[in-house]
Amino acid sequence: MQMGQGTVARMKMTKFSPIHRLSVAPMMDWTDRHCRFFHRCLAPSSALYTEMVTADAIRYGQRDRLLSGHHIDNQDDGIILQLGGSNPEALAEAVRLAEPYQFAEYNLNVGCPSGRVQSGRFGAALMAEPNLVADLVAAMKSATTKPVSVKCRLGIDDMDIEKGLDNFVDAVCRGGSDHLIIHARKAWLKGLSPKENRDIPPLNYDRVYQLKSRLPDIPISINGGITCADAITSASAVMDGVMLGRAAYQQPYQFGLWAAMIYDQLPPDSDKVITRMADYADAEVASGERLIAITRHMLGFANGQKGARRWRRMLSEEARAPTANGDLIRNAWDILMTARKDAA
Ligand SMILES: Cc1cc2nc3c(=O)[nH]c(=O)nc-3n(C[C@H](O)[C@H](O)[C@H](O)COP(=O)(O)O)c2cc1C
Repeated sequence: MQMGQGTVARMKMTKFSPIHRLSVAPMMDWTDRHCRFFHRCLAPSSALYTEMVTADAIRYGQRDRLLSGHHIDNQDDGIILQLGGSNPEALAEAVRLAEPYQFAEYNLNVGCPSGRVQSGRFGAALMAEPNLVADLVAAMKSATTKPVSVKCRLGIDDMDIEKGLDNFVDAVCRGGSDHLIIHARKAWLKGLSPKENRDIPPLNYDRVYQLKSRLPDIPISINGGITCADAITSASAVMDGVMLGRAAYQQPYQFGLWAAMIYDQLPPDSDKVITRMADYADAEVASGERLIAITRHMLGFANGQKGARRWRRMLSEEARAPTANGDLIRNAWDILMTARKDAA
């Protein structure tokens, strides 16, 4: 069934925030709270997604450890909690339990192809069950007044990416999703690892653009393989938002420049970013965190500069020392700046 005009009217972009114009994707083991602090220093206006957290982990796990500590300077409002699950009641309860942690929005993972996720019948496998996804979205929305979005693929396995995707998206919209993020390739659930599933199924941006032109009133972001300013600019001309995954993580300073371009802001001041990160590291180490948990996200900050290899070595190897603190970041930065001056 195609979406009726009434549904489209309800979906107008009332809740769509500019934080989505350039966002950082949810990435397991990567976009933890330290990573998000770093990215927030680089891009003050971008939406930053958490790693996926399952509804049951919130219901039965160490909720506080999973959900707290995401605020930055106690005023950040651009952190989005990504949830995984396939049971409407469980997801609604997870959202209710997460409400005190003040995330800006919630997102449902319908794109992850890992075996672990498939056995729980969620992630990308849910693309085969559009009506269930509509119920999941509706359940999440019943538990919050904040926006709820869905991140999905173009399809799975032999699903038809024309009609199949249209049906899926229409159902998700009927469920009340405020925003869709589409990773512009299929997930092949049989035979590919999650990593291969991020590279091997071919990208098809045109299909996402076509969807946007069919549904002009639905906020839709595009994701997948976007790695340079030109690609961000051209996708931004068509879509409501661009989501970056690996490129933002692996080239964090570039990410800061791209965010400055999109939001018409000054480029990030590297000295200030490093000072903030070193001060943050001191506070975290003082409360029992290991420095490496923070610096592991910063390895790409010096990419392309003379001295980058030394920077990476200090932040990966020396940062493992039990006594290491923010001074290591300060020293590594001084060494990098000296190398840069010598090269000039
Ligand atoms: C290490 C890693 C972990 C990921 N974990 C998640 C996840 O938890 N939830 C999710 O929806 N996507 C996850 N993804 C997929 C990304 O969100 C994104 O869709 C994908 O990397 C394609 O975007 P890119 O080409 O810009 O990296 C992960 C990707 C990577 C590289």
